Amino acid sequence: MEKKITVLPGDGIGPEVVEQGLKVINAINQSFDHNFELTEEDFGAIAIDKHGDPLPEKTLSACLSSDAIFLGAIGDPKYDNDPTLEVRPEQGLLKLRKSLELFSNIRPIATYDLLNDVSPLKNQLLNDVDFIIFRELTGGIYFGEKHLSDDKSQASDLCEYSEKEITRIAYQAFEAASNRRNKLTLIDKANVLETSRLWRRVIQDISKEYPQIEVDYLFVDNAAMQIVLNPSQFDVILTENMFGDIISDLASVITGSLGMLPSASVGIKSALFEPIHGSFPQAKGLDIANPMAAILSVAMMYEHFGLFEESDMIKRGVRWALNNDIVTKDLSGKNEASACSKVGDVVAWFIEEKGDLQIKREKSKVSLNCII
Ligand code: IPM
Ligand code: MN
Repeated sequence: MEKKITVLPGDGIGPEVVEQGLKVINAINQSFDHNFELTEEDFGAIAIDKHGDPLPEKTLSACLSSDAIFLGAIGDPKYDNDPTLEVRPEQGLLKLRKSLELFSNIRPIATYDLLNDVSPLKNQLLNDVDFIIFRELTGGIYFGEKHLSDDKSQASDLCEYSEKEITRIAYQAFEAASNRRNKLTLIDKANVLETSRLWRRVIQDISKEYPQIEVDYLFVDNAAMQIVLNPSQFDVILTENMFGDIISDLASVITGSLGMLPSASVGIKSALFEPIHGSFPQAKGLDIANPMAAILSVAMMYEHFGLFEESDMIKRGVRWALNNDIVTKDLSGKNEASACSKVGDVVAWFIEEKGDLQIKREKSKVSLNCII
């Protein structure tokens, strides 16, 4: 298969984790005979430093003409604590989402038995946790009209949704639920917000086309509690932009490490794949960041292209590394941690060896000693 991919390493640990993802892309493409044209562009704080714009024209046009985008992370502390700054990295991300109409942000939350001990939740709550969040990404309060009064003493952000914006992501979520465990939970605040009542009405209408799917409605405050109290009750969660932002960070810690969670943002023109974690500036350049989320985002990219065997191979490589304690500091506990680059090497190596676990396991110990 031939594809054009724009690679946006971004800021902080972004370039390091992206490098590991690229090792995996190269290993998969060699093994499965695909040809991806990979082009790197500036994005985020680094693009502000170099070009005065977090999303320079050249980067945007590369993204617009590619089949997928692989992003590391953006953000730099020098932009975080000064609300008066007019140019900030996040504006680039929001503009990219809007320009590419990436209206659906998909975040799978699955636990790995091996990581149960690093989860902040009690182990008995972690059995069978496997759900996907569909977060609307190009509407709502993020993109509504913003206002600051002349004397700067009053501000407002408008939250707006149209039936069309809700419908298009709702169908994706219903389709996902029908391929999974037939359960969909809409998270809203319909007891207070008009937009939430519109979401409910649209979802109720669409649900008639999916009689096999059990649809639940939860207010966002209750949902936050339920995600912590009983996370295995969820299958597909559907929600608007800001609730999705908050809920997905909450859900992400269940698994034990933010460093394990990938995401996809799909839309009309292209699709973007990125780890959920941020730019973790304190770890920049230290080769200690967990690259699994970036690597699993690459797996989601292959899945998006319909290349399931490839995606599966990557996921198996990640599990293999976990099973063999080839993990970074965030997951290693008392054991010795591996470097970010080594985790990437090992997953790529697993793929090059075609995941031949039975035969290679013993040999692997030897080879691993050589590369670790
Ligand atoms: C995310 C991030 C972004 C968001 C920020 C960086 C604008 O938190 O992707 O979840 O709020 O959408
Ligand atoms: Mn967020």
